[in-house]
Amino acid sequence: MPDAATMDKIVALCKRRGFIFASSEIYGGLGSTYDYGHYGVLLKTNVKNEWWRAMLQERDDIVALDSAILQHPRTWEASGHLAGFTDPMVDCRACGQRFRADHLQDLPCPRKPSKHPGDAEPCDLTETRDFNLMFETTMGPVEDSAATVYLRPETAQGIFVNFKNVLQFSRKKPPFGIAQVGKSFRNEITPGNFVFRTREFEQMEMEFFVPPDQAPEWYEFWKRARMDWYTDLGLRSDHLRLREHDPDELSHYSSGTADVEYLFPIGWSELEGIANRGDFDLTQHAEYSGEKLEYFDSQTKERYVPHVIEPAAGADRATLAFLADAYDEEEVDGEQRTVLKLHPRLAPVKVAVLPLVRKDGQPEVAREIVAALRGRMQTEYDEGDSIGKRYRRQDEIGTPFCLTVDHQTLDDRTVTVRERDTLAQARVAIDELPETLTARLAASWQSPKLAPA
Ligand code: GAP
Repeated sequence: MPDAATMDKIVALCKRRGFIFASSEIYGGLGSTYDYGHYGVLLKTNVKNEWWRAMLQERDDIVALDSAILQHPRTWEASGHLAGFTDPMVDCRACGQRFRADHLQDLPCPRKPSKHPGDAEPCDLTETRDFNLMFETTMGPVEDSAATVYLRPETAQGIFVNFKNVLQFSRKKPPFGIAQVGKSFRNEITPGNFVFRTREFEQMEMEFFVPPDQAPEWYEFWKRARMDWYTDLGLRSDHLRLREHDPDELSHYSSGTADVEYLFPIGWSELEGIANRGDFDLTQHAEYSGEKLEYFDSQTKERYVPHVIEPAAGADRATLAFLADAYDEEEVDGEQRTVLKLHPRLAPVKVAVLPLVRKDGQPEVAREIVAALRGRMQTEYDEGDSIGKRYRRQDEIGTPFCLTVDHQTLDDRTVTVRERDTLAQARVAIDELPETLTARLAASWQSPKLAPA
């Protein structure tokens, strides 16, 4: 059966339910920037928290960092971004639009009869030229070239420039990692496909510093670990693959890079990159800053520049992948339902408490249940509309459990627990809800959309 998820349906659901919407909408929007509403914030926060959990809680060889978005401009000279972080661009003299020269065959032309830019007259493309993707701004009140700074195009460089600080205070020795989550900015020529490629986005990057001879084995380790992270969080394994870069695709710093790719509604596309960056970054920053960026092993008396293995993921792109993987449409009792079959750990709301009617003491009991659950899990109270409509709303935001308070509740203090995926309903005593639901949320889960092996 074809997957129900299309990009248009995901965009519509995200807007309808307040996950993600176009930024500055009342002014007509601002090219490819998006705002996250309540459920979008909860979902993306859960994605980032799961990443932190995998990096920090489940290991003891990685430490956290939160570096500034604005960094010394020399950072970007040393990293190679100032000279080389460019995409090839063409302008069309006929329609005034700009296109990525290497994506022309994938882009629609805004003017007929051309299907793609440059196919036929009146298209009139300029020569290709390089366009630097870094956003420039000025620091302080004087707008001259000396005051030019850049919004960081990746979080990684903030980690490299702090290597010495972290080494000094963290009491770690290679192999160890520094992890960071934060906003990055790229003036993409052709952003698009919703939050897949935007100009402002969040990255989750970790630089793992290792003795040079251990780099190949850690590269293999992180490729496996990062694939497992996605499948453990419910992404269908048949929609996920690891693609090793061909030698001509490798960045200047990398001796090996693999992309975790997901089968988005737009086709197989990069979700995360895992790169063996060698000693490029530390060597460059040492040269440009004059600081020694190396490790001295006091036991072996060896001094060396660690090599770096980097898993670099996008929080927005991962959120989109989880949304696409979860989106489903089904017929239930002759009616269509749209449902997000998200891993319960990622679901924005874990439990909804719904009094069947807004009288007979049901809202009071429902609020009592909400109060008992709230500290343990994201809980929502909803008393508006018919019960069917309220179930549909919770299905669309991916709430794994709905608790219905009805007349029987007032007699025996039990509620109906309705499961999102199976639609199974069972009565559970109110006093047992915190324990029962906590256990069920922690249980292992596999996407019901996964085709049987
Ligand atoms: N430090 C290495 C680095 O930044 P990258 O492949 O350019 O590598 C890593 O970026 C991840 O960041 C990508 O796999 C993607 O998930 C996310 N990303 C990159 N550019 C993006 C954009 N314009 N919009 C949304 N996410 C983006």
